[in-house]
Amino acid sequence: MLMLKIALTGADGLVGSRIVELLKDDFEFIPLPQKLMDITNKEHVDNALKNLDFNIFFHLAAFTNVPGAETNKELCFKINRDGTKNVYEAVKQKQKKFIYVSTDFVFDGISPPYNEDSLPNPIGVYALSKYEGEKIVNPPAGGQAMIVRIAYPYRTSFELKKDFFRTFKFYLENNKPLSMITDSLMTPTFIDDIAYGLKYLFNNYKPEIYHLVGSQSISPYDAAMKVAETFNLDKSLIGKTTYEEYILGKARLPQFATIKSNKNNFWKMKTFGEGLDVIKKQISK
Ligand SMILES: NC(=O)c1ccc[n+]([C@@H]2O[C@H](COP(=O)([O-])OP(=O)(O)OC[C@H]3O[C@@H](n4cnc5c(N)ncnc54)[C@H](OP(=O)(O)O)[C@@H]3O)[C@@H](O)[C@H]2O)c1
Repeated sequence: MLMLKIALTGADGLVGSRIVELLKDDFEFIPLPQKLMDITNKEHVDNALKNLDFNIFFHLAAFTNVPGAETNKELCFKINRDGTKNVYEAVKQKQKKFIYVSTDFVFDGISPPYNEDSLPNPIGVYALSKYEGEKIVNPPAGGQAMIVRIAYPYRTSFELKKDFFRTFKFYLENNKPLSMITDSLMTPTFIDDIAYGLKYLFNNYKPEIYHLVGSQSISPYDAAMKVAETFNLDKSLIGKTTYEEYILGKARLPQFATIKSNKNNFWKMKTFGEGLDVIKKQISK
């Protein structure tokens, strides 16, 4: 059987590298790392894509440092908005399918829950830049692209970048105290589930918005407690704070990021507890 060819940016990142690892026998991935194709350089992009043969372009590359975006606004927009425009236009010319990975941060977190039909209202620089990317690939006149929003992705291991789960675990394992918000919600998503959900979406492409998110929203405090419970770590290291206290002097984050999907009837996403149980097994292998 012929494999779908998927050209992708961000293949070496936290999310992309696990997707490639899990789905490498199902699809032919063609990674386009920054050193081969800097997405902020239109000429690079046009040259790299001109003669490239692929069925789907999967765009994961982004400026992802949320606090850093507040002080690096220009670079953040250059990568997330202008870079997206460069790759989208080159792919559109070739009349190929395009998938843009976006974030739950496009929502303000004021009136949850948020599903695929909810109206974005980004509140920080990173969130704004990612929403600009969404509007490029999916303009009001009707877009040709699929948008896949993910939220708080976590995985068992990845040397290059710690996700929130491994940050909590690292603190607890090293007897460092954590001060965790009790009055906000996030929707943690096991990256393995994102990969398997994408397997369906690659094979069943539609130019629509999808949320591939965990099936439970939880406060950061409860999430840290769950990590301590699952890995037998010291819960007394976990202190409490409030949302308002935590964000003082920092970029505002959506407070109640309860993200839902009314479209995902193709892959059962795990709760945070279920994800941690799988991670525990993966670690002991
Ligand atoms: N991590 C999260 O919490 C989270 C949450 C929601 C949504 N998302 C979205 O998910 C996607 C993947 O995030 P991630 O956390 O896996 O990313 P990541 O680990 O920070 O990796 C970012 C990737 O983007 C590439 N990149 C950055 N600038 C580039 C440029 N100018 N040209 C080409 N490539 C460039 C990097 O390539 P090099 O390694 O070659 O430099 C790297 O592979 C992003 O679109 C992000 O917005 C992430």
